[in-house]
Amino acid sequence: MTKDRKFVKISLNSRRRQNILLRAYKVRYMKGNFIVIEGIDGSGTTTQTRLLCEWLKKRGRKFVQTQEPVKEDLHIGKVIKEHLVQDDDNHSPEAIALAFAADRLVHLEDRIIPALKEGKTVVSDRYYHSSMVYQPEHGADLEWVKKINKHARRPDATIIVDVPAEESVKRQEKRDGGKSSVIFENLDFQSKIRERYINLEEMLNEDIYVVDGLRSKKEVHRDIIKVVEKVLEK
Ligand code: TYD
Repeated sequence: MTKDRKFVKISLNSRRRQNILLRAYKVRYMKGNFIVIEGIDGSGTTTQTRLLCEWLKKRGRKFVQTQEPVKEDLHIGKVIKEHLVQDDDNHSPEAIALAFAADRLVHLEDRIIPALKEGKTVVSDRYYHSSMVYQPEHGADLEWVKKINKHARRPDATIIVDVPAEESVKRQEKRDGGKSSVIFENLDFQSKIRERYINLEEMLNEDIYVVDGLRSKKEVHRDIIKVVEKVLEK
């Protein structure tokens, strides 16, 4: 026992050995970074997620691009899809909140955690922040929504792409070819969602950055890169 300790002491005295040990430690335990892009509908989260992943690729970083809700035909996915497509009253806000939370945990266990363990950067288009703003606006209790998401790993950085509700509705209309339903209701809804997003920064004790999304895609992307560069340096 004493002999072993002595051996470690001698080894650690050598700077070269120390460096080798440090490198080995990093390779074995290096963890990836988890970045989330959030924002109201039409804020450009999907475009910005894609641009960020292209940027990571160019820099030779290993990454995983993902989104929520997970677009797979699991039962949880079906309930969510009905809610989103039909704007249905079939399910309570609580059932929808649980569906999103379950979808999230399964997604974490299947994709996000393994990728982080391999040292990859994971970029997710939406995460539990969406649940904390959308589900309470549909009537679920905010504290309860926070509780059912408490096992979801905290991101290293969350970037909220902020646009006014008017811009959100304009972009959605353009996307749907002018078919967007009940514009005024949507405008009111999006402005409430926006307010909830802005409040998240204060409510959650985590790294949240708000970037002005009312500029060109390139300019918004540049701001996002500034945040991500800092995260990657850590
Ligand atoms: P979708 O069309 O899948 O993607 P996009 O972000 O490109 O619009 O719509 C996602 C919708 O799901 C969006 O309105 C926010 C909502 N949502 C929730 O209500 N709760 C959640 O937990 C998540 C992840 C999304």
